[in-house]
Amino acid sequence: MTRAPSPRWLRRPYDTAPRFAYGADYNPEQWPREVWHEDIRLMREAGVNIVSLAVFSWARIQPAPEVWDFGWLDEIMDLLHAGGIAVDLGTATASPPPWLTTLHPEILPVGRAGETIWPGARQHWRPTSPVFRTYALRLVTAMAERYGRHPALAAWHLSNELGCHNVHDYSDDAARAFRSWLEDRYGTIDALNHAWGTDFWSQRYAEWEQILPPRLAASHPNPTQQLDFKRFSSDALKEYLRAERDVLYRLTPEVPVTTNFMVMDGTGGMHYADWAHEVDFISNDHYVRPGPQALDELSFSAALTGSLAGGRPWYLMEHSTSAVNWQPVNVAKRTGELARDALLHVAHGADAVCFFQWRQSPAGAEKYHSAMVPHAGPDSEVFRAVAGLGGLLRELAEVTGATRRPARAAILFDWESWWASEQDSHPSSLLRYRQEALDWYSAFLALGVRADVVPRGAALDGYDLVVAPVLHMVPRTLAKELTGYAESGGHLVTTYFSGVVDENDHAWLGGYPGALRELLGIRIEEFAPLLDGESVALDDGSTGTLWTDRITVTDDTVAVLAAYRTGEQTGRPAITRRPVGRGSATYVSTRLGAEGSRGVLARLLDGAGVTSELPEEARGRVELVVRGSGDTTYWFLVNRTDAPVELPGLSGELIARTPDAGPWAPGGSLVLGPRGVAVVRR
Ligand code: GAL
Repeated sequence: MTRAPSPRWLRRPYDTAPRFAYGADYNPEQWPREVWHEDIRLMREAGVNIVSLAVFSWARIQPAPEVWDFGWLDEIMDLLHAGGIAVDLGTATASPPPWLTTLHPEILPVGRAGETIWPGARQHWRPTSPVFRTYALRLVTAMAERYGRHPALAAWHLSNELGCHNVHDYSDDAARAFRSWLEDRYGTIDALNHAWGTDFWSQRYAEWEQILPPRLAASHPNPTQQLDFKRFSSDALKEYLRAERDVLYRLTPEVPVTTNFMVMDGTGGMHYADWAHEVDFISNDHYVRPGPQALDELSFSAALTGSLAGGRPWYLMEHSTSAVNWQPVNVAKRTGELARDALLHVAHGADAVCFFQWRQSPAGAEKYHSAMVPHAGPDSEVFRAVAGLGGLLRELAEVTGATRRPARAAILFDWESWWASEQDSHPSSLLRYRQEALDWYSAFLALGVRADVVPRGAALDGYDLVVAPVLHMVPRTLAKELTGYAESGGHLVTTYFSGVVDENDHAWLGGYPGALRELLGIRIEEFAPLLDGESVALDDGSTGTLWTDRITVTDDTVAVLAAYRTGEQTGRPAITRRPVGRGSATYVSTRLGAEGSRGVLARLLDGAGVTSELPEEARGRVELVVRGSGDTTYWFLVNRTDAPVELPGLSGELIARTPDAGPWAPGGSLVLGPRGVAVVRR
C-alpha cells in the first residue's frame, strides 16, 4: 500500500517570496579554489539558488579511517551561504573511498556468478554489509554534527541514486539478510516451501540455512525465489535508506531528508511506490532517451513521480542540459529542448529544477556529460539557455506550491507485475512491462487526453477509465478491488498476460486470465505468443505483435470489439468488453503498440465519457498538464513538435511562454513556437 510522503518541503533559507529551486549537483572538489568564486558569480547570474553538494566526496572528507578534512567543505558551504545559495547536502556515502575497500574488501558486492564487483567506478558496496553500514553511518553522523546547523542547509540528500549499480547483490551478507527477510515473511520453512513450490525439481528446504539468493544455476532458478529476491533487494536498500535517515532525524530533526529516485530506470529494481513515504519529499532524476517516444517517456516518468509525491510538489534532482555520456550515442539537445524538457517536469509538479551537474568535469568518466557550464565555458549556447530558464522560472514563481490536478483517466503501474511478468521461463521473453505501459500513455498523449500514472494501491474511484497493462500478478484482494471499481462505474482496460498469477507467482487454475476471468467474462486455455517479427491483423485495422490469445467468451453480455483477421486465431476475439455494473472491463489480447492502441482507446474513452480538453487541431501535437491551487489553475501547454502549433479560442492569462511567438489576447489564437511551452492562468 502506498502512503503519501510526509508533506515537508525543503527549507529555503534565502527566500523572501515563493520561488522555484534552481540549480545542480556541484562538485567543487574537482576544481581549484579560484574557480569557486567564479562559480558563485555565474550561479547568481543564471538564477541558481540551490546546489547538491558532497554527493561523491567521501574520499576528500575522510581521507583515512581516523583523518577528517572538513576544511574545504566548510569553506565552500560558507561561500555558498555568502552568495545566498542554499545547499542540499549529500551524506557523501554513495561511493566508498579506496582505503575502505582495501581495509574491508568484504563490503564489495558480488554478482550472480560469484564475481566480485571491484572498486574503480562507484557504488561498490553491499546494501546489507554491516561493515559498510558502520563506516557509512559514522560519516553521516559526522556530516550531521558538522553541518546540521549551517545556515545554508536546505535538506539532506541521502546517498545518491540508491541501487543504481548495486541493487542486486548475491554475496554472503545478502544471503544472510535474505534468510532473515524470508523468515519474517513466511514464519515457517513449510510456508516458504509452499510459496516457492519447492516440490518441483526436488528443491524442498529443511532449514533456513540451506537457502541462497538465486545465484547462477544450472537452469532457471525457482521463480518465487527470484521474485522474493527482487522484493528483498528493494527492501534491503529501503532499510539502508532508513538507517541513514534515522541518524539525521535524531541529530537534526528539523532538516528534511530526500533521496533521488530514478523513476525512468528500466530495470525497476527499486519499488519506489513502497519507498515514497520514507522521505520528506520526493526527488527524481530523469534523462531523456532519444527515440520516437523520448518526450512521451519524460512525461510518463514525471506523471508517475507526481503520483508518488501524492500530487504535491517534488524535486527534479537531476536532468541534463544537453547530452549524457552513458548511452550508445549521446545526442545533444536541440534548440528549445532544454527549457521544454525542464518545464514539462514543472508541469507535472516539480518545484525544484536541477541538473547534473553545474560545471562539466575535465576528467573522469563523465567528462563528456553536459552541464550548466560546459567545457566551452559561460560564453556558450548552453549557458545562455540555462540563464534563460532561470529567468523563466522566476516569471513562473506563483505556480510553486500548486498541486497536480488529477486527470479523469489513469494508467495503473504495478512493480510486482513488472517483476513477475518479465521473469525467465515464461511464454515469451520479449515482453516488456514498462514499454507496454508507456505505449498506452503515448496513445493518451496522441489523443490529447490527460492521464495520470498511478501505482497499485492508489485510490482509483476518481478515475472514469483505468488502463492496467500486463497486470500479471493479481492477488484475490486486487481482483475484488478491480471488480468493485468496474461495478461502481469505472471502465477498466487490461491486456494479455494479466490476472495470471497470485502473490506467490502461482498460476490461478481453471483457465486464464485467472483472477480476472469472471470480471472479463472470457476464458483462455492456452497462450499463443508470436515470434519476434511476426504480426497479426485485427479487423479494426490495427496490428498485433508479441502475443495473441485463444479466447472463448463465457458471458453473453461480452462484446467483441475486434477480432483477429489473420493468423492462427482468425475469426476469434482479439479485444473484448464486458459491461459490469455501471462500468465495464475490457481485455486486449495482443500488443497493439503506441499507435495501434489509439483506436481502441479512443472508443473506450468515448464510452467512458472522457474527452480531450484541447482543441482538435492541437491534439497529439500539444500536451496539456494542469496544476492548481484554490480556484486558480495553471494550464501548461507543451508543443511536442518541431513546428509552430496554433491553439484557437484559449481563455486565461498568459504568464510565461517559450520561445516568444508574438502577442496574444485571451480568446484569440495562441501560437506555441517549435518545442515551445506556454503557461496560462485560468
Ligand atoms: C546519475 C548520477 C549522477 C551522474 C548522472 C549522469 O545517475 O546520479 O551522479 O552520474 O547520472 O547522467
